[in-house]
Parts: sequence; structure tokens; C-alpha cells
Amino acid sequence: MKQLLITIDGPAGSGKTTVSRLLAEKLSYIYVDTGALYRGVALAVQKSGISSGSDDELGKLCKTLDLKFVQSKTKTCLILDGNDISHLIRTPEISMLASAISARPVVREYLLKIQRDMGKKKGTVFEGRDMGTIVFPDADFKFFLDACPEIRALRRYNELKDKNTQTLEEIEKDIRLRDKNDSTRKIAPLKPAEQAVIINSTSISAAQVVSQMMSFIEKK
Ligand code: DC
Repeated sequence: MKQLLITIDGPAGSGKTTVSRLLAEKLSYIYVDTGALYRGVALAVQKSGISSGSDDELGKLCKTLDLKFVQSKTKTCLILDGNDISHLIRTPEISMLASAISARPVVREYLLKIQRDMGKKKGTVFEGRDMGTIVFPDADFKFFLDACPEIRALRRYNELKDKNTQTLEEIEKDIRLRDKNDSTRKIAPLKPAEQAVIINSTSISAAQVVSQMMSFIEKK
């Protein structure tokens, strides 16, 4: 079968990561979590102490960053200026900061090039918010995954288990706030691409979502 570029967009906690990983595994494709790139920039912003609202400062910072994924046999690491930051970007603070800086055009421009360069290699599943609408409008398959906020919060809560620093209510509140930020921003808002297949995962498992996706892919 021809090597494809597949995009999966959707809000926080919709199951994108699990589903994208499973789908990539099934097809022996590379999986790219573009949210991690926004989180990487957020970490750099946090470390540098610059204002997340200043395009000028953000632009200058982005020019100095060396942000990339490095793939080994067993895992993919996010490397910022030579350091593995994969485990530093999964905090509630970085989630909110990533959402805030993702609304800034300079940040999106900086990451657009990185993402499109990665997309030159087909046989990839890209997960994010604007993969099908902006980054890869010509993708071979576009999916949009959604679920109700209560379920998304519960999934996040269960995912983190004893690493949880937030209550279920706090997670749900953050998810709703991020939904609002991500879908109402002026540039590249979270929304399904026109040709996207929309799948609601509220009451079905990740494996069922993947099997629905596979039947769309195999039908074409
Ligand atoms: O998928 P995630 O929760 O790791 O993403 C973190 C934030 O990054 C999210 O709130 C919005 C932003 N983001 C984006 O604007 N565009 C993407 N393609 C991926 C993430």
C-alpha cells in the first residue's frame, strides 16, 4: 500500500495520543505528537522568564531554539538545545502555557516549518489541533477525534494515576479552559478540517476508534 500522511486533530484528552500511537503501530508508521513541540516552546518560555504575551520576545526566543524529536529503537525523545525534555513537559503549568503561546503567530510560524519538514517523509501519523486544517491541508486522511469534557477529564485523571497533582475537578476545569483558548484563537483554531472524518470516542474504546479509522483507510 502507498505510504500515507494521516492527521488526527482534536481537543485535550480526546484520546488522540493513544489512538495515533495505535494507528501508527498498526501501519508501521512514524507517530508525531505536535503538542509536544508547543510544550517544548512553553518550557523554554518558562525557563527564560520572558513574557508569554510578547510576540517580540517570543520571536527572539524561537530564533535561538534547537527543538527536535530524536527517535531511538524504543522511544521518541523531545530534545531542546541538546537536553531530553520529554519528561519535563507534562505538567499542568506547561499545559496551560503551551495553550497560551500556541495562540501567538510567531510561535506557530516557527513550528510550522519544523512540522512540514517532518511531513516530507510519508508513512506518518500527525497528531495535533491544526494538522488537517493548516499544517497538512493535502493529507491523505484526516480524522477529528472528540469526546465530552467529563470523559476527557476522567481519562486524563486515570492516565496520571499517582502522578496526579490535580483533582478531577481541577483537570476538567483546565480542559474546558484549554478547549476555549484553543478553539477561539484567531490563528489556526481547533476545528475539524472540511474533509475530516469526525469520530466521537465518548463511549467507545481507543481500539474501536482505530478499527473505525482502519476501515476508512482500507475502503479508499
Ligand atoms: O496536545 P497537547 O495537549 O499536548 O497540546 C498542548 C497545547 O498545544 C494545546 O493546548 C494547544 C497547542 N497545540 C496547538 O495549538 N496546535 C497543535 N497542532 C498541537 C498543540
